Amino acid sequence: MIDLKTHLEHRVAAALGDLDPAQRDALSLMPPKNREHGDIALGCFQLAKLRKAAPPQVAAELAAAFEPDDLIESAEAAGPFVNFRYRRAALAQSIVESVLRDAAPFGRAAATDTSIVIDFSSPNIAKPFHMGHLRSTVIGAALCRIHRHLGATVHGVNHLGDWGMPFAKMMTAYMKWGERDKLDANPMRYMFDLYVRYGKAAKEDPSLDEEAAQHFKALESGEENAEREMWRFLRDESLKAFQGPYDRLGVTFDHVTGESFYEDKMQPVLERYEKAGVLVESDGADVVDLKEFGIKVPCILRKSDGTTLYHTRDLAAVFYREQEFDPTRILYVVGAEQKLHFQQLVAVLEKIGDPIAKRVEHVPFGLILALNEETGKWEKFASRGGNAIFLDEVLDEAVAGVRKIIAEKNPDLADADRVAEKVGVGAIVFNDLKNGRVKDVKFDWSAMLAFEGETGPYVQYAGARLASILRKSDAPEDPDALLEGVDWKLLEDAAPVLLTMQEFGPAVVRAAKESEPSVITNLMLRIAGEIHSYLREHHVLRAEPELRNARLALVAAAKRVLATGLGLIGVAAVDEM
Ligand code: ARG
Repeated sequence: MIDLKTHLEHRVAAALGDLDPAQRDALSLMPPKNREHGDIALGCFQLAKLRKAAPPQVAAELAAAFEPDDLIESAEAAGPFVNFRYRRAALAQSIVESVLRDAAPFGRAAATDTSIVIDFSSPNIAKPFHMGHLRSTVIGAALCRIHRHLGATVHGVNHLGDWGMPFAKMMTAYMKWGERDKLDANPMRYMFDLYVRYGKAAKEDPSLDEEAAQHFKALESGEENAEREMWRFLRDESLKAFQGPYDRLGVTFDHVTGESFYEDKMQPVLERYEKAGVLVESDGADVVDLKEFGIKVPCILRKSDGTTLYHTRDLAAVFYREQEFDPTRILYVVGAEQKLHFQQLVAVLEKIGDPIAKRVEHVPFGLILALNEETGKWEKFASRGGNAIFLDEVLDEAVAGVRKIIAEKNPDLADADRVAEKVGVGAIVFNDLKNGRVKDVKFDWSAMLAFEGETGPYVQYAGARLASILRKSDAPEDPDALLEGVDWKLLEDAAPVLLTMQEFGPAVVRAAKESEPSVITNLMLRIAGEIHSYLREHHVLRAEPELRNARLALVAAAKRVLATGLGLIGVAAVDEM
């Protein structure tokens, strides 16, 4: 198997003469911005710094010293860059073989010693799952898969909001008005109704919040009491209710350690801060002052009634994760509205000089917007009853929409319901991960479900076309058999597809580094586009035998890259649609 990139790296190193390890690390080959300049480019900035020369000079010297070989056709300097062109046969062989043999970066990398904690989804069990939690779930699950693909040990954590005042309010509502049979009939909706009812009632009668605070105090006392029993019951019911959407989205967690998990881990945290002499009293509460970090709001770690807060639990969670997982990074996939919370968290860690502060990263994201038909404006997504959704209903709506399109386009499709489920759910996930995550997501049903345009269905459809060709061809599934005797020169005209596939590795690395799954989503759109145009211009099944074999290998590889990329972002591939 040839690995073009490694080969090129060696050749570059050889052309440059003796390279120390630092200079070798400074070689970063990336796809060029403009394909016409070459197949892969080497930016000479870092190398120039190490050699104390100007980048264009280093580039010119390198290009002049570089000799073409069987795999590399040319090297040309362009300003601070050197652009290389692969021989077409080598390009085809290297990519198709690596993909079909599941070699990195197309297959999963060998294990590294990177450990990544990803705190995501984390709904409040006291409140309904809202659109923000859908985004966190989808982005966080994608990041888990992406880091795993790169060989990291990933700890995906659902930091459930199952403690504190929000939960106490729910508990109070259920203790007052709850009816078991109504809960059983539709737990999510019923909890939502109770939540709305509590909100209204508490506005009229503020003593309700005091009651909730009492209940929380009783829960946090650690005693086996009515509150504890109610907590256990509501937590179990919520988890059961969340499982449906999690299954449909293909989302799993390595740890479901909610806020309640830190019940017995907060006292040591408070003591640590006390000992460090940074816990000060303010109106009977224990707080950490953060003015030196430019943060005006102090961080409260214990309320005057002795109970703990969201921050106290997050702090306990950082220390717990530090100890258990020795993390390289801890990512918090949480909406941008909690920016201050995480700034405070980092500052509180810095206050005692804990180096873990540098590893805590808030990964914020924008809102989901829906079109208000009356005003024609995009507004924060809401369903009947306000700023809340029933995730299952949103998924159902997408699936029903796709089912309708399939009924028109492909009425004979076997298994249409199963396909519609994958395509409908996939469309929502894809739409969420299409733009940079801090951007707001527009929930435009018809645009997002369409089989044309920048959509999940469009990419899935490219995969289905490839699957259909393979099905009709009787091409062997075994990669050895499929690759045997392929004349790679015959794939010369597939360079646009292959070069786009070549970007897969760097895209995954960038997505991980920047916590930005959209890098992969966009590459998948481009690969799908190249496949659609390749298939428009080339026959596969009807080509001459030699050509047919070469093209079938390409088709199998392209299908695999699409499936892997879609898999990373959490969209299923389908063989027919
Ligand atoms: N439960 C919180 C909410 O719904 C999100 C928790 C995020 N994770 C964390 N470690 N704070 O807003």
